[in-house]
Amino acid sequence: MEGGIIKDAFDYVEELFRANSGGHDAAHSVRVYKNAMLIASKEPPCDTTVVALAALLHDADDHKLFNTENNENARAFLSTHGADSEMTERICKAIDQVSFSKNRGKTPSTPEARIVQDADRLDAIGAVGIARTFAYGGEHGRSLEMSIQHFYDKLLLLSREMNTDTAKELARSRHEYMEGFLKEFENETKEE
Ligand code: NI
Repeated sequence: MEGGIIKDAFDYVEELFRANSGGHDAAHSVRVYKNAMLIASKEPPCDTTVVALAALLHDADDHKLFNTENNENARAFLSTHGADSEMTERICKAIDQVSFSKNRGKTPSTPEARIVQDADRLDAIGAVGIARTFAYGGEHGRSLEMSIQHFYDKLLLLSREMNTDTAKELARSRHEYMEGFLKEFENETKEE
């Protein structure tokens, strides 16, 4: 089932987010998948099928986008693609532990969840993080200054909260890039 189900998961998220466009899109899920596979390749052994599917499906039941309970979309996909119940539970557990707001200060309990959480957080910082923040802000009627505040409230904290050494390393340059951006923004907008 391995290769087939992962390929099908790409198609599934593409379709799912097409119907529910917004700041979260299929491209975000694909970037999280890529980050997660990169981290997984450098960290101690883990189940890469669980990592891949949890990464691709991690926002399939995001409450901001979908009116589902108990990972209904992810479970529907997995059950129609031959994942057994043990695999399904492991993937859903990882998905449940990824969310920043629901899990503030808690470290995920499995290596697969720690990797996917790091991968999702990496996509919230750096150049991609800056682009996503202003896209989301624009969509929700926020001023530039309100979006800037989001960096101080959340995004600048993320590099210190990575679980894996690989993600800490990857986060460093992204963090510095954001700091440089904020400094430049401040320079250009300060009142003399
Ligand atoms: Ni996400």
